[in-house]
Amino acid sequence: MKIEGAVCIITGSSSGIGAATARVLAGLGARVVLAARRVERLEALAAELPGSLAVETDVTILEQLERLVTRAVDEYGRVDVLVNNAGQGLHVPLEELDPADLRAVFELNVIAPLLGMQTVLPIMRSQSSGSIVNVSSATSLRVFPGLGGYSATKAALNMVSQVGRIELAGSGVTVSVVYPSVTATEFHDRLRAGHIVSGARNIPRDPPELVADSIAFAIATGEAHVLVGDPPRPIIPGDSEGWGSLLARQAPGAQAP
Ligand SMILES: NC(=O)c1ccc[n+]([C@@H]2O[C@H](COP(=O)([O-])OP(=O)(O)OC[C@H]3O[C@@H](n4cnc5c(N)ncnc54)[C@H](OP(=O)(O)O)[C@@H]3O)[C@@H](O)[C@H]2O)c1
Repeated sequence: MKIEGAVCIITGSSSGIGAATARVLAGLGARVVLAARRVERLEALAAELPGSLAVETDVTILEQLERLVTRAVDEYGRVDVLVNNAGQGLHVPLEELDPADLRAVFELNVIAPLLGMQTVLPIMRSQSSGSIVNVSSATSLRVFPGLGGYSATKAALNMVSQVGRIELAGSGVTVSVVYPSVTATEFHDRLRAGHIVSGARNIPRDPPELVADSIAFAIATGEAHVLVGDPPRPIIPGDSEGWGSLLARQAPGAQAP
């Protein structure tokens, strides 16, 4: 997918990886549609990015997702890219995991991206082109004590993405998954519950721009799985070198699945 001129919806673009992605894609000539709940932040970012649009959106509410996509189509006449980036952490041991927290994080990290896909797909199918990028987590690829709830949501997102990719084969729409490692954003201070796991405190945090570049790479190439790095790296399940390089950067206590 050519990024220049593309209409790109980015959820969770009021901070962190989403805001960095908006800047990177706009810098490559995309028309970006910014979506999150903190509308004042979206409007401040939109003021920096000519030709962009800010739409206050809670992605867990279907009517708001539909309104977001309608606003994008009304403004630009098409939707080329959906970056499902909005998400939240939940870092507690399983014995202490409150089911209400787990349900809420599943709503945000799994159901909302799925609804986002369902909402843009009729448009992308009618265009015979589109790129959906789901922002997962490196934590979904290994077994981390204390991250069972969060990693389960991202593992579910991986499966939704992979099945979606196959179901859409031949439609002109690609579905990609990007796997950030520990990244320097507000994420760690805005967990639904719990604390950053002790081993991960010592891992150098990637700048969100590195993840943004990897998301741009996923859009441009349509690769199924993209490991964040400089340069970003396409990986295939079973590629022990790819997973190995990921594991090398992980927290002590991580186990192979
Ligand atoms: N930081 C890391 O170490 C790391 C590592 C791996 C994966 N990730 C993933 O990367 C993605 C982005 O996280 P980040 O690190 O950039 O954290 P962040 O700075 O906390 O950003 C999270 C974004 O999600 C938005 N959001 C949360 N709930 C929402 C809702 N109901 N509706 C709409 N937007 C919502 C927030 O905006 P509002 O609050 O304004 O709505 C915010 O813009 C997440 O999916 C996260 O799981 C992060």
